[in-house]
Amino acid sequence: MSRPVAVYVPCDAAALSVGADEVARAIAAEAEARHLPVVVVRNGSRGLLWLEPLVEVTTEHGRVAYGPVTPEAVPELFDAGFLEGKAHPLGHGFTEEIPFLKHQQRLTFARCGITDPVSVEDYRAHGGFAGLERALSMRPDEIVAEITRSGLRGRGGAGFPTGVKWKTVLDADAPEKFVCCNADEGDSGTFADRMLIEGDPFLLVEGMTIAALAVGARQGYVYLRSEYPHAAATLNEAIRRAYEQDWLGENIHGSGHDFHLEVRLGAGSYVCGEETAMLESLEGKRGIVRAKPPVPALEGLFGRPTAINNVLTLTSVPVVLARGAAFYRDFGVGRSHGTQPFQLAGNIQRGGLVELAFGVSLHDLIYRFGGGTASGRPLRAVQVGGPLGAYLPADQLDMPADYEAMAESGAMLGHGGIVVFDDTVRMDRMARFAMAFCAEESCGKCTPCRIGSTRGRELLDKIVARQDVAGNLALLEDLCTVMADGSLCAMGGLTPLPVRSAIRHFPEDFA
Ligand SMILES: Cc1cc2nc3c(=O)[nH]c(=O)nc-3n(C[C@H](O)[C@H](O)[C@H](O)COP(=O)(O)O)c2cc1C
Ligand code: SF4
Repeated sequence: MSRPVAVYVPCDAAALSVGADEVARAIAAEAEARHLPVVVVRNGSRGLLWLEPLVEVTTEHGRVAYGPVTPEAVPELFDAGFLEGKAHPLGHGFTEEIPFLKHQQRLTFARCGITDPVSVEDYRAHGGFAGLERALSMRPDEIVAEITRSGLRGRGGAGFPTGVKWKTVLDADAPEKFVCCNADEGDSGTFADRMLIEGDPFLLVEGMTIAALAVGARQGYVYLRSEYPHAAATLNEAIRRAYEQDWLGENIHGSGHDFHLEVRLGAGSYVCGEETAMLESLEGKRGIVRAKPPVPALEGLFGRPTAINNVLTLTSVPVVLARGAAFYRDFGVGRSHGTQPFQLAGNIQRGGLVELAFGVSLHDLIYRFGGGTASGRPLRAVQVGGPLGAYLPADQLDMPADYEAMAESGAMLGHGGIVVFDDTVRMDRMARFAMAFCAEESCGKCTPCRIGSTRGRELLDKIVARQDVAGNLALLEDLCTVMADGSLCAMGGLTPLPVRSAIRHFPEDFA
């Protein structure tokens, strides 16, 4: 009997939401009915979300892609000879040759969609744990120095240098330290953390273990949003297997180092992604922001020095260790080193994940990769960096996507979410939404945000209803200044960004 053909059907939540389970079952049933040797492997997503469920067939020359596949299309795919990678209207040729994927620079997502997410063997076979193996032979200060040299900055939003943060934790004198991964991923239009955890969870396990070695922690937590049940299941399974195979626990692979890792679920609050509110939540309390100082790197979880990093920061770490700081640092522009997994969402033809070196223009991302609006109507606005990010007009899309260039233009890259709107968007409504969102999600600790967001929403209600527009806009501008200058954290502090940018770039919607 010939060797079974491996057919990959993603188990990523985005693929499941459009019927990937049904497609996987249909393929297995059809193969059985035709007595064809097929093994269905459930992989992560390749990030070409408009093609999900994207089914890939292994051929002699590489994987061939078909999508979006429905259960109904499965018999005709077999008839057309898709097991040999033959042509079909749903076929896209070799996966790696699809322009959306071919022109990316995947470092963090290099393995995502290629391996079986919960197979340690598959992870190892594709270079997994090479970074950790190197780190196990290094001193903590050497690991921190390597991360500092790489120029890696936090991908959670603020772009803070990871090496500086880790050095603070390492240098702190305490009997106990922690590593926490922020996987709350609340920004609108973002899904990279989820996709990574569902597609390559061992990379996060590896990154957190390296972080623990670097700062001297023996215990880590992943704070994961409860809205990600598939990610939770995959990560818990990966952690279980990592313990089983000695990549977690006591005396990891005879190194003398211990690291324990657990997943904690949030309860659906945007502000719990703010690092100090996250710590409160992890401690079992209400997610209310703590005043800083002290910074969590000195007094974090249960009052102990804690390294808090985003999923994408921690999953960049194994790449840095395995391939060297210089290799990683070479990607990017200015002080933005490495690659950024951009997430294309909203009204866009080809939504999905695009990992590229910093410095690519928003225009390239939206048109070359994303294909412009899904509606085919003219693009009018783009919001970059989540619900607290600025709205940019169509004529500012030449801006390079890096931390400094975005900040200079009064915008921010945040977690790399790019949400596209066509010309049917009403920007006065979007400004109102920003204030309403803040009023809904505010933790309530400080007055400018708690009261200001509600007053802001009321003012925008009046502006939308065209009541004393000039007077209410002046009041709103005053309020934005108070919120930006007086809020305790970036929730209230950044809400004026989408409001002001909407007014500045789209004055006709506030006339
Ligand atoms: C309101 C608010 C929500 C946030 N949500 C997240 C989040 O969901 N995920 C995240 O990693 N960082 C989030 N952050 C940023 C974190 O406070 C923190 O800067 C980050 O987790 C640090 O990790 P990094 O240095 O790796 O970026 C949020 C910040 C604010 C103010
Ligand atoms: S700005 Fe808002 S979310 Fe942040 S501490 Fe103040 S009330 Fe809480």
